[in-house]
Amino acid sequence: MIKIDANTNSTKLRHIAFIMDGNGRWAEKRGMPREYGHKYGAKTLKTVIERCAFHGIEAATFYAFSTENWKRPKKEVDALMNLLDDYLDRLLKDVDQNDIRYKFIGDVSVLKDTLCDKIYMLEDKSKEKKHIVNIALNYGSKSELVMACNKLIVEGKKQVCEEDIERSLYTSESPSLDLLVRTGGELRLSNFLLWQAAYAELYFTDVLWPDMDEKTVDLAVEAFYKRKRRFGSV
Ligand code: IPE
Ligand code: IPE
Ligand code: MG
Repeated sequence: MIKIDANTNSTKLRHIAFIMDGNGRWAEKRGMPREYGHKYGAKTLKTVIERCAFHGIEAATFYAFSTENWKRPKKEVDALMNLLDDYLDRLLKDVDQNDIRYKFIGDVSVLKDTLCDKIYMLEDKSKEKKHIVNIALNYGSKSELVMACNKLIVEGKKQVCEEDIERSLYTSESPSLDLLVRTGGELRLSNFLLWQAAYAELYFTDVLWPDMDEKTVDLAVEAFYKRKRRFGSV
């Protein structure tokens, strides 16, 4: 169990996010095609989701496919979509076995109809569950902000405030982001949760996503509880 140091961070970790990076390199290190890393990475996702729920974290957000990832070779994009299809089948089958509420964030409407149907079915079937899991698919933070502004224009707003934008984001039903984790060693946000990360703690690890496990999740959570969050105060 995580030891919480009462002298440092008194804020509870309610919302964690992960940039799940490093699948390709993990596979290449093993002389395997990049798709093999994605397949293994999907298994890791299940382990990490369960570990976050174990820690009583209310919401966990995972970057699965960015608006920029369409630039990848068709073979890799197709493999990712097929993996998603299989993953959705598994989640739908297991929906009654856990207390997880799935929400897909990003513009999923451009995905194949069969994928969209499964996504909407999973969101609906899990909507009364406790732990929120946001899966970012065809997600980009800049397009999320544009989407939020357009929603507000449709509402008839001539001027907006921070609360208007907050409630128009895909993550409006999740608590404020507390901790943003990026695996795979890169030190950037790659168009992920730019607004939401305004006061999040950032945690970068060289661990490649498929190597994440309960212990490495615990290390990130422990690091969070050692931080001093000041939010501009003293
Ligand atoms: C992240 O792993 C998964 C997706 C972006 C879908 P990568 O595929 O980016 O793996 P690396 O960074 O090339 O190792
Ligand atoms: C970010 O990883 C996107 C996801 C993890 C889904 P990338 O591998 O696409 O990011 P860059 O290209 O290194 O910035
Ligand atoms: Mg990458």
